[in-house]
Amino acid sequence: MVVCSCNRLTHVDIETAVAGGAQRPRDIYAARGCKAQCGNCVKGVVCLLREARKRHQQAAEMAAMQAQAAQQAVACSA
Ligand code: FES
Repeated sequence: MVVCSCNRLTHVDIETAVAGGAQRPRDIYAARGCKAQCGNCVKGVVCLLREARKRHQQAAEMAAMQAQAAQQAVACSA
């Protein structure tokens, strides 16, 4: 889905930028080597950025919990 028609920025670009560490809208544009032009997309970019960051954080927390559970399983079997 195209989010920014001026820069042909898609929701996938936002996900990719967040996975690469983007935390602010300008980070999203910078990841594609562009910046906001007309500004009509900024609210949408902010919304998708928040959702992507939340998913990314939840995935990191889940991975940490799984790693901790694996360590406990090893400790219990030793
Ligand atoms: S639609 Fe994104 S800057 Fe114009």
